[in-house]
Amino acid sequence: MKTLIISYSFTGNNGKLSNIIAERINADFVEIKEKRKRTILTILLDVIFNRTPKIQKSEKIFEEYEHLLFIAPIWFGKIASPLRTLFEDLKNTNKKFSFISLSSGADGVNPDLEKELIQRTGIKPKTVINPLIREILPTNPKPSRKEINTYKISEDEADDVVKKIITELNKCVTL
Ligand SMILES: Cc1cc2nc3c(=O)[nH]c(=O)nc-3n(C[C@H](O)[C@H](O)[C@H](O)COP(=O)(O)O)c2cc1C
Repeated sequence: MKTLIISYSFTGNNGKLSNIIAERINADFVEIKEKRKRTILTILLDVIFNRTPKIQKSEKIFEEYEHLLFIAPIWFGKIASPLRTLFEDLKNTNKKFSFISLSSGADGVNPDLEKELIQRTGIKPKTVINPLIREILPTNPKPSRKEINTYKISEDEADDVVKKIITELNKCVTL
């Protein structure tokens, strides 16, 4: 299936995964950039007021692809707000898409991702894959909350996580 990877990353983790996945599955790749500077405060305000931030228009034409693979962080249990415009664009289409996020899992799993995607796009995603940093880090000694939240994935770890993601993706999508 002709796949376009659409990725957004604030601190680099999901960006790193996106690059590796794009290379491994030989997919086209577009990185979402915002018009305004992102801060922790604007993350919080977007979540509280359900705001849709402005993004720079992409030259890629989504219609040319059979499957869209969104990759972005989770913020306060929600999918990173810069993807909202694109989710809105999917409404009333029948586009196949999947969602991947490497997130901290500091407060446990993020149970509402599929529900949010259906709510924002009107489409059930092919799959939602959310590897957690909490589960990547060594457990002894137990990592602190700060370590989990500020963690930057290394090339080797990213390589490992990507292998697992692709195995999961292959169960649901013909790549
Ligand atoms: C303000 C803020 C809120 C976050 N909330 C969550 C959360 O609810 N669940 C989660 O698993 N991770 C959460 N995270 C962790 C990020 O999803 C994680 O660090 C991710 O890897 C960052 O991706 P990026 O480097 O691509 O921006 C949060 C991070 C920030 C900065």
